[in-house]
Amino acid sequence: MAEIAKLMDKLVSLCKRRGFIFPSSEIYGGLNSCYDYGPLGVELKRNIKDFWWKAMVQTRDDIEGLDASILMHPRVWEASGHVANFTDPMVDCKECKARFRADQIEGAMCGSPAYKGRKASKCADENKFTDARLFNLMFKTFMGPVEDAANVVYLRPETAQGIYVNVYNVMQASRQRIPFGIAQIGKAFRNEITPGNFTFRTREFEQMEMQFFVKPGTDMEWFEYWKAQRIAWYDGLGIRKAKLQFHQHGPTELAHYAAAAFDIEYEFPFGWKELEGIHNRTDFDLKRHAEYSGKDLSYFDDATREKYVPYIVETSAGCDRTVLTTLIDAYDEDVIEGEARTVLHLAPVIAPIKAGVFPLVKKEGMPEVAQKIYQDLKKHFPVFYDDGGAIGRRYRRMDEAGTPFGITVDGQTLQDQTVTVRERDSLVQTRVAIDKLLPFIQEKMAGYKRKE
Ligand code: GAP
Repeated sequence: MAEIAKLMDKLVSLCKRRGFIFPSSEIYGGLNSCYDYGPLGVELKRNIKDFWWKAMVQTRDDIEGLDASILMHPRVWEASGHVANFTDPMVDCKECKARFRADQIEGAMCGSPAYKGRKASKCADENKFTDARLFNLMFKTFMGPVEDAANVVYLRPETAQGIYVNVYNVMQASRQRIPFGIAQIGKAFRNEITPGNFTFRTREFEQMEMQFFVKPGTDMEWFEYWKAQRIAWYDGLGIRKAKLQFHQHGPTELAHYAAAAFDIEYEFPFGWKELEGIHNRTDFDLKRHAEYSGKDLSYFDDATREKYVPYIVETSAGCDRTVLTTLIDAYDEDVIEGEARTVLHLAPVIAPIKAGVFPLVKKEGMPEVAQKIYQDLKKHFPVFYDDGGAIGRRYRRMDEAGTPFGITVDGQTLQDQTVTVRERDSLVQTRVAIDKLLPFIQEKMAGYKRKE
């Protein structure tokens, strides 16, 4: 337990120190469960989103992209079932006033200074809790200047509904036919009762969701197809295979409208937890929106002359949770030549900086050559120039930022126009001609495989 807390503490501290993730509004004491992405974090997150978008939209003929608004007509959330059912059971401790999800008391700690360190389950045993009541997780606000019930709107708790209400707009505009999908990346908001574990569960987060519309009867085949596609995506992202597993929703977990559901789980330091959900949502969503909007949302297949309400297979991943997973999976400490180093084994495709460029010393023309290499490579991918301090320390700084390659200009460079390229994971150093540097690094990046 202490080891786990230590690993998370070290990661949180590295994220702050190196500019991956900062607590939000920190100078005001922070805002519970809200985080800001710093210079390295924003690059990492953007690379993950691009990697997803490329796999799910740009390299496919059967998926289109969408960016729907966060605020939607309030009837959307009645149709989706969120107004009535998007609730968690909540209890309050009458003594320490802390609030808990009734189903997550095991392992939780009481909050007030008087009760610090006391297990919430003890308060439960001693009957100090209020009765459980249902708490709706949607954030409410008002549209326009009048703050009354008629003007309530919600911050969307998932991006999926923006896709459902646009299905025929997208289909007509892009001349798609079923089976086809719509993908979207965007913010979602949930007023979680117990957020926590750094960015694992927050109240504001980004989702990467794809909804695939299929003919009823073909849904389970597509469901299996998407399960295989999605777990393979995490392999491409450089997550170790042994740390991933499927978890099938049993009868008590399965949403009432779902015919099947699997989570892709990662073994976090705090246990196996959901990274992404893959759901066969049947025709529930489009039937509900048809009922609430009064619009016919059935599909007419010209070729077969059949009319039906499409089934939906959904793949729903959390972007922030994926960022956290890549950081946890990449974090490592080792000892090189008697010196400890912290290293992030991030796959080059998502690493914020692809290479560091270093003149061995700040004289003899080395900085000029290194600057030229830096400026040339910068046109192709993010690189970092560093001429400060001992070369070993410069390597360590880049290791900690997850930079896969270090390029050093030394005395030999001035003789034969070659540099050394050091690989972060294997520490192998290769002498490469400057004019072959770009293809050398590109080839290495393309062939990267994370060690299990
Ligand atoms: N449209 C289906 C849907 O939203 P979900 O299982 O509630 O399904 C999908 O959410 C994914 O969104 C989760 O697997 C997780 O990665 C991410 N997610 C959900 N709630 C989150 C939260 N409070 N903080 C961070 N990520 C969250």
